[in-house]
Amino acid sequence: MVWWLRFPCCSWLSVRLELIGGLITFFAALFAVLSRDTVDPALVGLSISSSLQVTIALTVLMRTASDVETNIVAVERIKEYVELKQEAPWEDPSHPAPSDWPTIGEVTFQDYQLRYREGLDLVLKGVSFSIRGGEKVGIVGRTGAGKSSLTLALFRIIEPAGGSILIDDVDISQLGLHALRSRITIIPQDPVLFSGSLRQNLDPHGRLTDEVLWRALEHAHLKDYVGGLLAGLNHEVAEGGENFR
Ligand SMILES: Nc1ncnc2c1ncn2[C@@H]1O[C@H](COP(=O)(O)OP(=O)(O)OP(=O)(O)O)[C@@H](O)[C@H]1O
Ligand SMILES: [Mg+2]
Repeated sequence: MVWWLRFPCCSWLSVRLELIGGLITFFAALFAVLSRDTVDPALVGLSISSSLQVTIALTVLMRTASDVETNIVAVERIKEYVELKQEAPWEDPSHPAPSDWPTIGEVTFQDYQLRYREGLDLVLKGVSFSIRGGEKVGIVGRTGAGKSSLTLALFRIIEPAGGSILIDDVDISQLGLHALRSRITIIPQDPVLFSGSLRQNLDPHGRLTDEVLWRALEHAHLKDYVGGLLAGLNHEVAEGGENFR
């Protein structure tokens, strides 16, 4: 749609620019005729041929200016990312997570407070509760109550304004983000699939054996389906899993 609008815009611009160029040539010729007794014919020739170039110069100028304006958006975006506040350290050697953490999966929120940005109201206002390992819990609340915010808090996508979260007695604010985020997992409402092979989607870091991947597929009741695909684990997945519907 936007691409199509470019054509009428360019044509409209050309009409205006040609008109300006035409007017300049017209007045150059007019003045040459009016002052034919005083001005050198060589100068008249020079001024008219230069005025003929004006249209081209104006078109190039306008195109370049609009290109700069379009492309500067990329620079603006990079600047925005550069100025973004850095997250907590990815690895924190002074507080390594115990190698088998989390063993039980006991989650405790202690007087936990969270706000989305400095200056905004608290979204979670001192929540305290405890979930035992292996326990299944449903969180119920009206829209905007802060259910999704609890999940963001667990992964430290947003840092707390107060209080703490303990998983198996380890305060998660003390850990490096990689240690935290690689040890817990989330199943989001909308599945995320990248373009690439099925194998890359299941194991982006390429660390697992085929056997493990097939077992995971079996647990998800997808073994027969994937087994039926010609390329098996190397089946190409379209972006967003378009070819799986
Ligand atoms: N990115 C954000 N910036 C600022 N405030 C936000 C942001 N996301 C959510 N909020 C605010 O945080 C509060 C809790 O939002 P949250 O998404 O956790 O609610 P929810 O319980 O998951 O709601 P829903 O049932 O609609 O999913 C809401 O009042 C919302 O306005
Ligand atoms: Mg939500």
